[in-house]
Amino acid sequence: MNEPLKQPGAATTLIPQALQRSVISTPYGDELEHASIDQLRDFQLQRLRWTLDHAYTHVPWYRDRFHHLGVHPYDLHDAADLAQFPLTTKADLRAHYPFGLFAVPMDEVVRLHASSGTTGQPTVVGYTRNDIDVWSSLVARSIRAAGGKRGDRMHIAYGYGLFTGGLGAHYGAEKLGCTVIPMSGGQTARQVQLIQDFRPDLIMVTPSYMLNIAEEIERQGISPEALSLRVGIFGAEPWSATMRQELETRLGIQALDIYGLSELMGPGVAMEHLDTKDGPTLWEDHFYPEIIDPDTGEVLPDGQFGELVLTTLSKEALPMVRYRTRDLTRLLPGNGRAMRRLDKITGRSDDMLIIRGVNVFPTQIEEQLLKIAALSPVHELHVRRDGHLDTLTVNVELRAEHAGWTPSQQQAVSKDLAHRIKVHVGISTHVVVHPCQALKRSEGKSSHVLDYRQPA
Ligand code: DLL
Repeated sequence: MNEPLKQPGAATTLIPQALQRSVISTPYGDELEHASIDQLRDFQLQRLRWTLDHAYTHVPWYRDRFHHLGVHPYDLHDAADLAQFPLTTKADLRAHYPFGLFAVPMDEVVRLHASSGTTGQPTVVGYTRNDIDVWSSLVARSIRAAGGKRGDRMHIAYGYGLFTGGLGAHYGAEKLGCTVIPMSGGQTARQVQLIQDFRPDLIMVTPSYMLNIAEEIERQGISPEALSLRVGIFGAEPWSATMRQELETRLGIQALDIYGLSELMGPGVAMEHLDTKDGPTLWEDHFYPEIIDPDTGEVLPDGQFGELVLTTLSKEALPMVRYRTRDLTRLLPGNGRAMRRLDKITGRSDDMLIIRGVNVFPTQIEEQLLKIAALSPVHELHVRRDGHLDTLTVNVELRAEHAGWTPSQQQAVSKDLAHRIKVHVGISTHVVVHPCQALKRSEGKSSHVLDYRQPA
């Protein structure tokens, strides 16, 4: 029968000597960050085989799925052969709650994280010591891509705890040699005080919470020039290009996009570079991407929009084979490096609203809203069903400078926004203008959408 596949880091004949060392054993995997396309693809093929074998050998559920589809890790001769292997979904993780898909004994698992589980059974993720080292290295690499360096002060306002944002950012920033301020989310006035007193160079936080912090900074009459912040590393939720401009102007910083998800690791799966600001580079030495048609599952060529599917290349505790992220984007060529970039994530396929048959992403509404100077970026979308008709109410609020606006001025702004949404997004909406500070603020991931329709 077939011999077992080689373990990660073991010598192989596929790749040059310099690349035979596992990236796990190097601080940031720099060799691969700047590898040629051929070197990267050779490396990925070797690692894909390892992941398939690891999952097949140690996770009975994967073995059964592979048998069911009549595939074996040895069938992977080329990365394109991955398409024959089964997809994994969040539902599969939930069905094996809590540890059913782990591929190592529990005494090798040094950390657990979990999703909030607001929409069902939480998903639990485990990490070996090595998984934590890789994660920290990738976050360190991501902070470096954002222009961060040893000695920089890093304010972390992602939540700490079971959510991967806080601790993921923390370990990576420490690994790079930053001075970490582990503030976590919430206590907005205190956040602003510490930003003033500790003078951080960098901040890691959700873009919606950064807006909240920006408001507090303005409320206290602090000018952005007086702040030490250089760069914000924003992620964990979709945010538009107009939101980037908003954050950059209001805070006098560079706003960069970090992508990640707990099922795969946490923050640091992909990161935008400060010098190009053209979409996050996917760290392809640890994650192999495919884009599929979300309806048929067919693998689409680079450049086409679809759902991002990722396979882990080094995860020991919880290897993921073809994980359906639900995130809609496309793969763009690397800019000065072999690793490809992600286009801005429009949203998740499960966040897409279908309003009277039109597909609408909340970020499209945000984009239009931010074009109106009198409106604050804070908003809430309420979806209802009126008889057989879906209705979308866009709740917005005035910026502080316009607090004294008359009802007719408010009405004009409401008409302006409804018109823009009709023209650019293609749906009729009811826009309600609220006084400034009337809507709920986010302290982490924002939930702009309240869908009151009964599930079909
Ligand atoms: O949000 C991990 C993370 C923390 C990423 C901090 C970046 C910064 P989850 O809670 O599992 O993990 O949520 C993952 O959030 O599938 C996307 O839908 C969304 N998401 C994450 N980053 C971005 C981004 C963390 N930069 C889910 N742009 C993902 C758009 C994002 N959506």
